[in-house]
Amino acid sequence: MATAQETHKYPGDLNDVPGWFWPLDQVLFSWFLERQERQGTRGDLLELGAYMGKSAILLGHHLRDGETLTVCDLFGTEPPDAANRAEAAKSYSTLTRQAFERNYLSFHEALPAIVQDVSSTITDEVAPGTCRFAHIDASHLYEHVHGDIGAARDLLLPDGIVVLDDFRSEHTPGVAVAAWEAVLNRGLRPVCLSSQKLYGTWGDPEPVQEELLAALRERDDVAVTVEEAAGHRLVRARAKGKRMRPPSLPSSRHPAPAPAPATPTPRAQARPAQARPPRPRTPRERARRLALDVLPPVVTRAVRRYRATQRAKAGATAQNTGGTGRSRP
Ligand SMILES: C[S@@+](CC[C@H](N)C(=O)[O-])C[C@H]1O[C@@H](n2cnc3c(N)ncnc32)[C@H](O)[C@@H]1O
Repeated sequence: MATAQETHKYPGDLNDVPGWFWPLDQVLFSWFLERQERQGTRGDLLELGAYMGKSAILLGHHLRDGETLTVCDLFGTEPPDAANRAEAAKSYSTLTRQAFERNYLSFHEALPAIVQDVSSTITDEVAPGTCRFAHIDASHLYEHVHGDIGAARDLLLPDGIVVLDDFRSEHTPGVAVAAWEAVLNRGLRPVCLSSQKLYGTWGDPEPVQEELLAALRERDDVAVTVEEAAGHRLVRARAKGKRMRPPSLPSSRHPAPAPAPATPTPRAQARPAQARPPRPRTPRERARRLALDVLPPVVTRAVRRYRATQRAKAGATAQNTGGTGRSRP
């Protein structure tokens, strides 16, 4: 059996897994996948670019019996060209397939189908028209993303959802070109834009967009704007603050051990907390408290006894009549 220290190497929850999968996108992924589940849409899930598994683990949480999640990643093998090599060296140098598998298995009993290869091979591995959801997050260079978008179009079901990562980040202009090219020339219809990702479909965007708008407008942690561009309705969602109501997330099979209960200090042990009398709130109450303080103790005790008896009587009357038990003195 693993010791507490060994267990601690495993992610205790999804946010312990390294990656670039922010809370608003966790909410949006979950919403799209749960809508498909509600509508009885069946199909496989696909991710190009899994890194340490952060988004793949959430996708795996939505897999149902008979469906397959396929992830494709180089996982440290030689990239196909110099630009892709530079990208990998800069951002993914610590990645190993073992790290992905260890993270994934911390949340799920079985691994997804893994294609350890360049993303352009994915159409040899997954059958056309079989996927309901595809996340494109592998290379961020134009030529690769252009190819990945073409592959997603072939592999998705007619109303399937494709998600393009980093479609407008400063450091990924190639994704922006490929994404808007797909919208303007390759039939992709945007459903929603988050700060990092474009969600689209080659089906009819209107029903899903309407439902999504209604769902997002119910939330007080997401700001939504709608505008038209080149004949497309663009729904933009933005996280309002740092705290976002999370979707249902998979639980780790290695949760972090609960913190040990705090040991009380000897001083706290020796002196149990004493009930303090309530502070007088009104000038009248304060004057009465002062009067009781300056009277001889024997008189003060008699007054307090008398008032306690009066309060007990008032409480008994209120219980019988359903009142609050409060009475003016
Ligand atoms: C941005 S990371 C993926 C992040 C992950 N989806 C997440 O949300 O945490 C990009 C991944 O794509 C992989 N990658 C880069 N170029 C690739 C290529 N040409 N084919 C397949 N995978 C590639 C990298 O190894 C890296 O793991």
